Amino acid sequence: MSGYRIAVFASGTGGNFQALAEAAAEGRLGGATVELLVCDKPAAPVVGRAERLGIPAHLFVPKQYGSREEYEAEIVAKLEELDIDLVVLAGYMRLLTSVIVDKYAGRLINIHPSLLPAFPGTNAIGQALDYGVKLSGVTVHFVDGGMDTGPIIAQRAIEVAEHETEESFAQAVHAVEQELYPQVVALFAQGRVKLEGRKVTLLKG
Ligand code: GRF
Repeated sequence: MSGYRIAVFASGTGGNFQALAEAAAEGRLGGATVELLVCDKPAAPVVGRAERLGIPAHLFVPKQYGSREEYEAEIVAKLEELDIDLVVLAGYMRLLTSVIVDKYAGRLINIHPSLLPAFPGTNAIGQALDYGVKLSGVTVHFVDGGMDTGPIIAQRAIEVAEHETEESFAQAVHAVEQELYPQVVALFAQGRVKLEGRKVTLLKG
């Protein structure tokens, strides 16, 4: 199989999934194509988006398996069958085991709604606003065995306005995410992301 093929893992709304799929359709993903959605919540809105976009989905219910490793082995088989080059986490609400992390080391990325290493984990937007920061933002990073600890690929800062609410800031964050994530995936597709230790260099086109 040819071309640069990505799989997107998502558990919820799927705004980033949709942005990636639309970027691919409009030729803004560096030639990459979205080949698969992986989702652990068969009733999530992202599943309907995949249907409407005609993108195949691998759906599963974690509690029907004996262990995380079991369902991840099934996912890896699917990724291999489809010859996936890059695994893109976009609101996938489960920690990955070494079954996926080791297999896709250097080809596994996530987007997080804060300027890491500040505010890792869940509800990063709420954490940042509760802390009272004046600046937060978005991080795209490689995934390693930790919680939002992998090498940073790209970041965008967003100012927190005077009377910002969690809703208004989330909107701003999502808009920036949906612009940044396709740009980063395009860099991967063009072979322009170089990882050395914790340092990531984005090579000029
Ligand atoms: C995004 O804010 C992303 O940073 C976080 O989960 C959210 C997913 O949103 N990891 P969506 O499902 O892509 O709309």
